[in-house]
Amino acid sequence: MAYAIAALKRGNMAISHIFCFVMPYQSKNYENLLGIKGLSDKLLNNHFSLYEGYVKNTNKLFEALDELHDANKAGSPQFAELKRRLGWEFNGRRLHELYFENLTKDFKELDINSSFYKKIEAGYDNFNYWLEDFKATASMRGIGWVILYYDKKDGCLINSWINEHDAGHPAGCAPLLVMDIFEHAYMIDYGLKRADYIETFLAAIDWQAVADRFEKALT
Ligand SMILES: [Fe+2]
Repeated sequence: MAYAIAALKRGNMAISHIFCFVMPYQSKNYENLLGIKGLSDKLLNNHFSLYEGYVKNTNKLFEALDELHDANKAGSPQFAELKRRLGWEFNGRRLHELYFENLTKDFKELDINSSFYKKIEAGYDNFNYWLEDFKATASMRGIGWVILYYDKKDGCLINSWINEHDAGHPAGCAPLLVMDIFEHAYMIDYGLKRADYIETFLAAIDWQAVADRFEKALT
């Protein structure tokens, strides 16, 4: 098999072929965010549980695909549907990690002397114009994600709307700032008042983490 590298058995997950050397994926602990201003512990703990489900299901999908491949069913409709499903579960896991990891209880404004701030100003004329665009995107009807991307090919910043987890990601772009717009991210605390959640999110951004992602994307 083209992608068969070696037999692998880790924990309670048994796959005969390595898809990724860090598998099975492990849930990360984000309890450091409990107590963050504007998001209750109840909401956050629910959100953490939901995220853990994506980790489990991503692992299950890889394992099921491996079993189908071993059973010579790689050409089956079942294999194809699980492959399609993989983008949803995988991104559900990854996007939640990016989201939690760009939140902080110790908010500090983005350094106006940072190269990232200057990049925003260069691309959007000024920071507030970028912010208005980000907020307008976050206010769109529907569920999904709002993501500030860095287009590594053209060197541009893009505020994007992502449907669900898997549709709309601009190819070859690095996610810098990730905001969850699914109702579970705010309805326990805010009901239908998404505008209030947006303000809470903006006041809890870990700008240093975002700026670090930008610097990493440049390399
Ligand atoms: Fe979420």
